[in-house]
Amino acid sequence: MDWGWNNRISKLFLPDQHCFYLAMDHGYFQGPTHGLEDVGKVSKMLESYVDAFFVTRGILRNSIDPRTPVAIILRVSGGISIVSKDLSNEEVSTTADEVVRLNASAVGYSVYIGTEYEHQTLMGLFKLVNECTPFGIPVMAVTAVGRELEEKKEARFLGMACRICAESGASVVKTYYCEDFDKIVAGCPVPVVIAGGPKTNSDIEVLKFVYNGMQKGASGVNLGRNIWQNDCPIGMASALRAIIHEKYSPKEAYELFLSIKNEEMPVKSAKR
Ligand code: 5RP
Repeated sequence: MDWGWNNRISKLFLPDQHCFYLAMDHGYFQGPTHGLEDVGKVSKMLESYVDAFFVTRGILRNSIDPRTPVAIILRVSGGISIVSKDLSNEEVSTTADEVVRLNASAVGYSVYIGTEYEHQTLMGLFKLVNECTPFGIPVMAVTAVGRELEEKKEARFLGMACRICAESGASVVKTYYCEDFDKIVAGCPVPVVIAGGPKTNSDIEVLKFVYNGMQKGASGVNLGRNIWQNDCPIGMASALRAIIHEKYSPKEAYELFLSIKNEEMPVKSAKR
């Protein structure tokens, strides 16, 4: 691959080959989600702690400072809303020249395996990979499950979905953490990134599932609500960064979170 591709990949994966993406794309189908009403504010607050923002072009142009040090993963699927009957009826929303114009390091696109729109969304993935590869732009496929998160959060289904996305040309696949996550990673020839889901009941819970996912071969995370809906987003982002890039245990990361939450001095090493 060319220099442009390698440059983008080096922003998506740090030298340890791990990654920490902050998902802020929720508005593309949900509107102003709680905690993410002002994306400009959230992005400024957290840009020192994460490696990339996952956002739409509208938010990028209107709310993200072009001087941000953070890589951009552009959300390039859409066409539905939270009040749609079927959340899976998505298509490719953005052209490759628009992605180049916005200088994104990658694009993110949802594939809905096992739904009425499986074929449509898979064909969209093929098209996107065909269009983005000549420009040196990697595609991150999202194994989307719509409203059926609980039923579909299991390794056999998600492993199949990840493998299909990788075989279709995705360079990174994002999927949910579940039991036997190592089997998903073992069957997927490209890096697997853990998706978040709704905010967990306790702070330690998210640190534990991210730690377990990393132990089982995940390359990193793409998390949203568990960070910016937390009472202390900087504490949570620091703790997650420490697990992903600094080999902290959940207990050590939780102590770091509490120390920041309780307004002790932030630990410098957990910051970029
Ligand atoms: C929605 C997405 C989100 O980016 C992803 O779900 C991460 O956000 P959260 O951690 O809030 O679930 O791809 O389809």
